[in-house]
Amino acid sequence: MARRRQVYEGKAKVLFEGPEPGTLVQYFKDDATAFNNQKKGVIVGKGVINNRISEYIMMRLNEIGIPTHFVRRLNMREQLVREVEIIPLEVVVRNVAAGSLSTRLGIEEGTALPRSILEFYYKNDKLGDPMVSEEHITAFGWASTQEIDDVMALALRINDFLIGLFLGIGIRLIDFKLEFGRYWENNDEMRIILADEITPDSCRLWDSATNEKMDKDRFRRDLGGVAEAYQEVARRLGILPEAGPRDFKGPTVMQ
Ligand code: TMP
Repeated sequence: MARRRQVYEGKAKVLFEGPEPGTLVQYFKDDATAFNNQKKGVIVGKGVINNRISEYIMMRLNEIGIPTHFVRRLNMREQLVREVEIIPLEVVVRNVAAGSLSTRLGIEEGTALPRSILEFYYKNDKLGDPMVSEEHITAFGWASTQEIDDVMALALRINDFLIGLFLGIGIRLIDFKLEFGRYWENNDEMRIILADEITPDSCRLWDSATNEKMDKDRFRRDLGGVAEAYQEVARRLGILPEAGPRDFKGPTVMQ
């Protein structure tokens, strides 16, 4: 098979040129990083599970009218997506205090927030993705005021929907990160659509009954059982990969 042109390589995914113009192939790796690449590891089978979980969630979001880059899954580790111009922001939505919010503001992890809180981080690995305000975003031209409004409205709709989706399978959605892109439909009209992924890499998910962590914090904090936790999220969503064992060499984390 002809080698496809690689368009971009991130920490957990690779993007290749797609089969037709305006499309890309998104490949999910087993690599895991934390703390801006200071901690590195491999979670065997993660890419396969995340490909499925992100597919499932994006399909459900498409069904309620949230535009996403997802087109279709191609194989165990790849999905076809629409090519977008990524807005260089990580949009974090928080429902319960955890992680950097708890550290920064001294609020105990697990404290319910009075309302959902939205934060923006400038996507720049060299700078460690610093938090920014709307003022920075518009002043430096990363997005317009209208685009920020669209992103915020979409993020809050996604939050409401995902809270319910996860609640139904005994999982609390603590917080998560989204990325959006500009998509030109028929080369004229531009729309903001959801891009990247929604997976246990990009969310905090706690078991409703026990508060046990079912996300990348298990890797960040060396809690063990990382692959099992991701698999359990997939199992509860009803989407364990059919070929399972062949690509799941066992739930190991290698540092
Ligand atoms: P934080 O508490 O570390 O700021 O993370 C908030 C949420 O965003 C959490 O669900 C993890 C996710 N996240 C990413 O997906 N990528 C990142 O680079 C960071 C820092 C957080």
